[in-house]
Amino acid sequence: MTDFKIEVNLTTEPKQKPDFDHLEFGKNFTDHMFIVDYTEGKGWHDARIVPYQPLTLDPASMVFHYGQTVFEGLKAYHTENNDVLLFRPDMNMKRLNRSNDRLCIPPIDEELALAAIQKIIDIEREWVPTAQGTSLYIRPFIFATEPYLGVAPSSRYKFIVILSPVGAYYKEGINPVKIAVERKYVRATIGGTGNAKTAGNYAGSLKAQEVAEKEGYSQVLWLDGRENKYIEEVGSMNIFFKIKGKVVTPKLNGSILEGVTRDSILQLLKHWNIPVSEQQISMEELYQAYKDGHLEEAFGTGTAAVISPVGELFWENEKLIINNGETGELSKKLYDTLTGIQLGTEPDPFGWTVKVEKQEPATAAQPK
Ligand code: COI
Repeated sequence: MTDFKIEVNLTTEPKQKPDFDHLEFGKNFTDHMFIVDYTEGKGWHDARIVPYQPLTLDPASMVFHYGQTVFEGLKAYHTENNDVLLFRPDMNMKRLNRSNDRLCIPPIDEELALAAIQKIIDIEREWVPTAQGTSLYIRPFIFATEPYLGVAPSSRYKFIVILSPVGAYYKEGINPVKIAVERKYVRATIGGTGNAKTAGNYAGSLKAQEVAEKEGYSQVLWLDGRENKYIEEVGSMNIFFKIKGKVVTPKLNGSILEGVTRDSILQLLKHWNIPVSEQQISMEELYQAYKDGHLEEAFGTGTAAVISPVGELFWENEKLIINNGETGELSKKLYDTLTGIQLGTEPDPFGWTVKVEKQEPATAAQPK
């Protein structure tokens, strides 16, 4: 980015904070947002933190027509010592740039993006909730703003960061969710955009999710787009299975999202010397393991979902009840350890957490 200075214009009308003990996911937003613009030939410019507000966009902005947009999701946690910690934010910025590359969006300067996140969270410290299971969800996103109806990469973009104090993503919380294995629709295929965090992947997943929800399932488990045979991921999380003492997760193949939580769980399991493998795994193999009594646990991982045990999988008109529909021992240990590291109550042997430093207080803009 060419302009490293971040202008700060604080709100004069702070909002009433929601009840931090009853937070839903993604419904409340803090007082400020970060914005930086991109113009071809000029690069990223005019980085600023401003009061949270609606945007004015040209209706011909290319994002509305061809979906050139990417996003990220990470969280800030309030610790017992009143510090605020980020969890592996560098991983999110790297993935943002991989998504940018796939969508022909110019790269962001990862350091500036991290500095911007640090700065806005420092300003919004009071919005980092303290209740158990809550955090401040950080949503960086980039979208094409050039008014043009030709199909081509845009010459203008906005990179925005908004913040939302959140509770659990699923209404079940840490309790097991029910997931239906999807047979009709596919999420992604090799060579597509499956491993990019881009809106279209999520828009395309809604139909299957709607059908599954009507049947009482929280989300769907996607199979591969080519053969409709191999397990890929759930809409908002990666998936893991414990089979006969060994943990398996689908290996990254270009159509699966490279989850930061997925990577952290793999590292934790290796650290504990628990056998783990990233491999291609078909739904038939999983079914066989279930029938043989070898499927011991299943859980999803994601920033929003954290560790979410799966108590039931619906497949070919059969309900596969996993671990009696209860949270497994390993899922619980992973949840406790991961959230402990994130909250600073457990040792952080990998150096994953980053403290949000207190900066010079910015002054509020004078009312007009
Ligand atoms: C996240 O886990 O942060 C995600 O981006 C998933 C989202 C679709 C809620």
